[in-house]
Amino acid sequence: MAQSSFKLNTGAEMPAVGLGTWQSKPGEVQKAVSYALQNGYRLVDCAYCYGNEDEVGEGLKEAFDAGVKREDVFIMTKAWASYNTRIAENLDKSLKSLGLDYVDLYLIHWPALLNPEGNHEKFPTLPDGTRDVIQGWNHVEAWRQMEALMGTGKVKAIGVCNYSKPYLEELLPQCKIVPAINQIENHPSLPQQEIVDLCNQKGIHVVAYSPLGSTGSPLMSAEPITKIAEKRGISAGTVLLSYHVARGTTVLAKSVTPARIKANLEIVKLDDEDMKLLNDYSNDLTKKGELKRYVFPPFKTTFGFPDKA
Ligand SMILES: NC(=O)c1ccc[n+]([C@@H]2O[C@H](COP(=O)([O-])OP(=O)(O)OC[C@H]3O[C@@H](n4cnc5c(N)ncnc54)[C@H](OP(=O)(O)O)[C@@H]3O)[C@@H](O)[C@H]2O)c1
Repeated sequence: MAQSSFKLNTGAEMPAVGLGTWQSKPGEVQKAVSYALQNGYRLVDCAYCYGNEDEVGEGLKEAFDAGVKREDVFIMTKAWASYNTRIAENLDKSLKSLGLDYVDLYLIHWPALLNPEGNHEKFPTLPDGTRDVIQGWNHVEAWRQMEALMGTGKVKAIGVCNYSKPYLEELLPQCKIVPAINQIENHPSLPQQEIVDLCNQKGIHVVAYSPLGSTGSPLMSAEPITKIAEKRGISAGTVLLSYHVARGTTVLAKSVTPARIKANLEIVKLDDEDMKLLNDYSNDLTKKGELKRYVFPPFKTTFGFPDKA
């Protein structure tokens, strides 16, 4: 069955569900990518920082050799924060590892700069052990480099990740090209409605990450989720992933387990009553100050996220 998709501001279609590859270990990720693509997935999310793009590339090759067509697959990857002054160089590294001539979408992973000349290529630290972050660096500089990639044939589109409302409001008036997407952590315990609303208003497609609550999928046991799952006779995972498609958002779920990879493609149409339960749950957490952000690297900034203020 053809997967549903959303139209980006570039005119390209992005599938509604994609495979994540963060923390997919060596020996697992090649099989996961190949299996996913041969079982209906058409969207793969990668990142230089994940340290597994060589093996993701082997998985892509295996799927292409088995008959999946490159042009039918949407592949995105990201420039890491220690390369935010050397974005073109980072893209070339990813393309080489992935075995690709182009990616469908290239993203800024985090709008911060880790010392490019620090004591580690990806995760430089200061003598006190904290991250070696360059203070006062302007994230718009990274976007200018992203825009310059658009004539190279190496990227079909460009976008951002982890942009809060204030960061977007700073970036947008200075853009020649509006980001095609904003990839953010998103689930009923962190709805980030203010960002979703701004993106919708500006034609920036939202892509949700960590929909199951990231490592160990803790959100699958949250009460309103299990209640809806039971009522509908579907899995908690299906409720959590379908929530995004109902919101007009693409969702990325990571798994290296074949049965789960397959199950995560199952999307149902949640009705108004289901969405009300989920939205009430989000509103209640917001009121109590109990929103849950699972992914927040120690960059010594709040990135403008209100739950971190
Ligand atoms: N842009 C960014 O800064 C950023 C940050 C975080 C994530 N991401 C992207 O978003 C993707 C998804 O987020 P995530 O990896 O943080 O977390 P996630 O997809 O919410 O959760 C992954 C966890 O859930 C388990 N799982 C997957 N499907 C399941 C199912 N049907 N039933 C039970 N457990 C299941 C996985 O286990 P197994 O693998 O063992 O099956 C893994 O432990 C990432 O892989 C990455 O590509 C982007």
